[in-house]
Amino acid sequence: MFRRLLLIFTVLTLCLGQAMADSLKISVIGAGKVGGTLGTLWAKAGHEVMFSSRHPETLTELVKAAGPTARAGSVSDAAQWGEVIVLSVPYGAMPVLSEQLKGKLDGKVVFSTSNPFSSRDGEVGRKALELGVALADQQYLPEAHLVRAFNAIGYAAMKEQSGSGKAIPTFADDDQARELGARLVRDAGFIPVLLPLVRADEGLPGGPLSGVLSEAELKYRLGE
Ligand SMILES: NC(=O)c1ccc[n+]([C@@H]2O[C@H](COP(=O)([O-])OP(=O)(O)OC[C@H]3O[C@@H](n4cnc5c(N)ncnc54)[C@H](OP(=O)(O)O)[C@@H]3O)[C@@H](O)[C@H]2O)c1
Repeated sequence: MFRRLLLIFTVLTLCLGQAMADSLKISVIGAGKVGGTLGTLWAKAGHEVMFSSRHPETLTELVKAAGPTARAGSVSDAAQWGEVIVLSVPYGAMPVLSEQLKGKLDGKVVFSTSNPFSSRDGEVGRKALELGVALADQQYLPEAHLVRAFNAIGYAAMKEQSGSGKAIPTFADDDQARELGARLVRDAGFIPVLLPLVRADEGLPGGPLSGVLSEAELKYRLGE
């Protein structure tokens, strides 16, 4: 009996150790509608998640709802702690964040859902749309390995359609960003369809790849 209990305990400990080893440390900068939704999906999938805010004391309810692998921190804490940094802010915040995050990303993957709108983000949004959103991101965050995803699916659909076989265009160029980006999309309950950053504007709201699409529908739009 004792030996059987010891065996069960050992197997459980090994499983827990393996699960911890497989989990990522994900920092969310901008824990609003999108950051809060995606971060919660990743926490429920077993990842460690730090939600951050300029006012981290406001995140208590979100952290509690996301479960025991979630925590709260400042924007600087988040930049330092995570192995992947999820950026989910109004694009107008990019110049401030660029200054704040300078020297702190150290080759990390930055996963951005942030979209520019000239109506909301003024001159910053207008310039990013003119230049192309991925190039603008790279000018603001030159040290980061960039991946862009979940840019044109509403936050409510992220929660409701998770696990229902929907595809997400996932824009990245280098191997590290492609691999981690695809994993995060998958672990949020969607199918990543990898595309180069040069096509990122097509994934903006109203763009030809926007909407909640099946993999077949997305590939049809891509002409595949
Ligand atoms: N809403 C959607 O369905 C949807 C879907 C796809 C993509 N997007 C895009 O994703 C981004 C986030 O959208 P959202 O709807 O989640 O917005 P949101 O609910 O307004 O949340 C944005 C968060 O950004 C943070 N923030 C603002 N300025 C900041 C700064 N200077 N430094 C750090 N954090 C800052 C705010 O956090 P604190 O005030 O707590 O610091 C806020 O919680 C936007 O670019 C949006 O266009 C939205």
